[in-house]
Amino acid sequence: MLGPRLEGRNGVALVPPTLEHFRLHPAWEVQPEASRFMGPRFGELTPEKQEKRFKETADGQTQIQWTIAYEGEPVGFTGIFHIDWVRRDGETGLFIGRHDLYGRGIASEAVRLRTSFAWRELRLRRVHNWVALANRGSRRANEKVGYRRMGLLPRSYFRSGEWYDEWLGEAFANTFPTDDLTARLDVPQRGSGDESQHAGE
Ligand SMILES: CC(C)(COP(=O)(O)OP(=O)(O)OC[C@H]1O[C@@H](n2cnc3c(N)ncnc32)[C@H](O)[C@@H]1OP(=O)(O)O)[C@@H](O)C(=O)NCCC(=O)NCCS
Repeated sequence: MLGPRLEGRNGVALVPPTLEHFRLHPAWEVQPEASRFMGPRFGELTPEKQEKRFKETADGQTQIQWTIAYEGEPVGFTGIFHIDWVRRDGETGLFIGRHDLYGRGIASEAVRLRTSFAWRELRLRRVHNWVALANRGSRRANEKVGYRRMGLLPRSYFRSGEWYDEWLGEAFANTFPTDDLTARLDVPQRGSGDESQHAGE
């Protein structure tokens, strides 16, 4: 599935991916600065493969993906994958291809929007994420919306002459920062007369 547009703060938005966005991924993914923590260096990054990936993403019923936009430009992608609708659990991921924009809070805002959507729209129970332990920026962006370490896979993959451990984080709706959640909720005020439509929630 292609995720709907979610307007965020500080110029960040999650927008529905297009084939043109998918065609940007290979150039992003081969840059050492961006792919450093992405595991072994191989993959099929042809235009034909990207077209196939785009169609599979759009058709897929167990994943939802967005393009991360910053000041109107596509700069990366994020999503919830392998969604188990019975367990209400999904695996999350994020990639920012424009390394000249690192450190501006783009990942933090993208993770906040994605996680809020997981609770408020998809009604998931849990989300989880594998992150290289050394990838502090990614772990931190997840931790700020409630992900906590629930496991560690030592020597998960070998790349450029060294082993990488992987951190497994998980988050639940009740661990999401409440100020961030309520700030964007259209909660009716007491006495405004429209409480009834939310009765039972
Ligand atoms: C890792 C990545 C997601 C961070 O994106 P970003 O937009 O630069 O992150 P933010 O600016 O939102 O920063 C998130 C937090 O991590 C910290 N951080 C960011 N980069 C960091 C780095 N290289 N080292 C240490 N801390 C870092 C920030 O200070 C911030 O913490 P704070 O809010 O407590 O100050 C981005 O660099 C990226 O996509 N890299 C390539 C792909 C990748 O590794 N994806 C994740 C796979 S799990």
